[in-house]
Amino acid sequence: MAVSPVELSVYPDDCDAFGHLNQASLLTLFERARWEALSAGPGADAFQKNGVWPALRKATVEYLQQVFPGERLRFDLVLTHHGHTSFAVRQSARKIDSDTLAATADFVFVCVGREGRPVQVPPEVSRFLGARPRRRSGATQRVSVRGLALAVDVTGDGPPVLFVHGFPLDRTLWRPLMATLTGWRRIAPDLRGMGLSDAPEAGYTIAAYADDLVALLDALHVDRAIVCGLSMGGYIAFDLLRRHSNRIQGLILANTRAGADDAEGRARRDAMIARVRRDGTGFLKEDMVPKLLAATSVQTMPDVVRQVSAMVTGSPPDGIAGALAAMRDRPDSIDLLPQIAVPTLVVAGSDDQLIPLAESRAMASAIPHAHFAVIPAAGHLAPLEQPVNMSRVVREFLESLL
Ligand code: MLT
Repeated sequence: MAVSPVELSVYPDDCDAFGHLNQASLLTLFERARWEALSAGPGADAFQKNGVWPALRKATVEYLQQVFPGERLRFDLVLTHHGHTSFAVRQSARKIDSDTLAATADFVFVCVGREGRPVQVPPEVSRFLGARPRRRSGATQRVSVRGLALAVDVTGDGPPVLFVHGFPLDRTLWRPLMATLTGWRRIAPDLRGMGLSDAPEAGYTIAAYADDLVALLDALHVDRAIVCGLSMGGYIAFDLLRRHSNRIQGLILANTRAGADDAEGRARRDAMIARVRRDGTGFLKEDMVPKLLAATSVQTMPDVVRQVSAMVTGSPPDGIAGALAAMRDRPDSIDLLPQIAVPTLVVAGSDDQLIPLAESRAMASAIPHAHFAVIPAAGHLAPLEQPVNMSRVVREFLESLL
């Protein structure tokens, strides 16, 4: 359910000596709009009835243009986070006459009971704000996006991090990071056609994967996320940057490259598509596992070998062939690198056989202010081969963004 917009007029006594809407009065208007919206829903006394006081914990306002007395503003409100005892909303104020944005504001509230301790958000307020029923953290959900169901693991609270797996893998690539990165809301989907997600016959492009992920963020009420893409996940992250940069707060590019396939690479993809269509996906185990993992990992980590073997043979042929075609046709992103304006971490594996270290280093140097980290004794799949080191590097980067 969407919260209905509220229209309010700006009075002369809301304005400063220069005749502009005063910044503190704007905060009051945001508050009045919230209460008006609440009265049109469960009632302005929805909190009092429950003995709950919604304490404002944080307010972030962006003032975008001057507003004058007599102007009418339309206030919209969307829920951006819902926890057990807290919630966050984003409000916007638009000038009705010119239909232009005057200001936006993010508010975080904690519900406090009579004893002064945090208590549950009143259920009727949760429903009014459009919160979805809470699921057991960590359980795999199926979320409908763009006509198909994506399997997604969501765990933890905090700023959202979207993990995008590579080829021919699935969300379980991220299990060690999902388990350790407490303090962050970790979101790890299976891309269309991979793992437990639906696998349509057609419709596989890097742009389609990116649009699915944006729809997934919408469905999870996530406005902006830190995007962590590994290999093909990095190709998708580049497309998100190109077309949905307002959804990206930071970037982790792991074991990936910005360049497109050359003619030889495209021919290899075609040959592999033909083989998948002919033989199914079983051959991927012999073909891919020794390339994805460092030789020492293959020799010394039987559990990792087992997990990766299961992953590379676990997706349906339509999804595998679709991913190969999507990678074959992906655009070159090298020109994008100098324009990346969000904080970025580039991660490389010291023993990655698919992405040479020098190429990762060159990519990091082309991105303004990018951090660069090499995970020793890791091949292409550092999250599984060196989970402790990979988690540490990712956590340090994430904490630098706070
Ligand atoms: C991946 O891990 O996603 C693949 O190695 C990417 C590719 O084949 O280009």
